[in-house]
Amino acid sequence: MIITVAHQKGGTGKSTIATNLASLLKADMLDLDKQYSGALWNEQRYSVHERNSKVVPVRMMVLESSGSKPAHAYTLPDVELLNFLSSYKNDKKVKLVIDTAGFDGQNNRLALVMADIVITPVALSGVEIFGLQEFEKILIEAKKQTGRDIPCYVLVNRVVKSSKIRLEDGLAFIKDKDAFNLLKSRLGQRIAFQRAYENGKNVIELNKTSLAAKEMAAVVKEIKQIIKKEIK
Ligand SMILES: Nc1ncnc2c1ncn2[C@@H]1O[C@H](COP(=O)(O)OP(=O)(O)OP(=O)(O)O)[C@@H](O)[C@H]1O
Ligand SMILES: [Mg+2]
Repeated sequence: MIITVAHQKGGTGKSTIATNLASLLKADMLDLDKQYSGALWNEQRYSVHERNSKVVPVRMMVLESSGSKPAHAYTLPDVELLNFLSSYKNDKKVKLVIDTAGFDGQNNRLALVMADIVITPVALSGVEIFGLQEFEKILIEAKKQTGRDIPCYVLVNRVVKSSKIRLEDGLAFIKDKDAFNLLKSRLGQRIAFQRAYENGKNVIELNKTSLAAKEMAAVVKEIKQIIKKEIK
């Protein structure tokens, strides 16, 4: 089972969501981004683990071509990427969460083509809708390439009460597109997401009674239901 967190637009929350999902779903993780946002979060997790055994590091893979690798990540030769992804795709039990880079590129495309489900985080400002139109094109191309549907679920991220009109416009746009499904659960603009990242944790480990934790728990629950439905 491959869950690819993707959007060619930078800074929409891919790494934030991928790190939370990987740890909460007890999944392995592949960090395709040379910035290593996911792998560096996991390095922090290793040091937290020494003090708190409940914070379990994620099994993290990075590509050889990404350059100097974080201490605890496994290096994957680029030529092995397809084989590596195939092994998860054919496995119903073991999950892989892929954190992709915020641009359109060959490896990101492969992560889409091989995905069982795609999670696409967006913050619904005007600019994000434009970005989502671009992502729709990429997704449609990937679907053509595989000749199968690649279910894509848009996760509305960084919701702030003050931009309700933009949110409504954005939701209408997503609902109108065949390529996209909309997750019912959303994530608010909350400092806990940044704090959790910096501390090598997910938001539930950071503070299980926070609003961010409740929102993330709802997202995980919804994604688990989707996994059941998509895998059959
Ligand atoms: N729901 C949220 N509430 C508050 N801050 C958030 C939220 N989601 C993401 N952020 C913050 O927004 C910034 C960008 O998030 P993140 O790094 O996850 O995006 P990304 O899509 O992975 O970016 P890139 O394309 O550069 O890889 C980070 O500082 C992150 O902490
Ligand atoms: Mg990122």
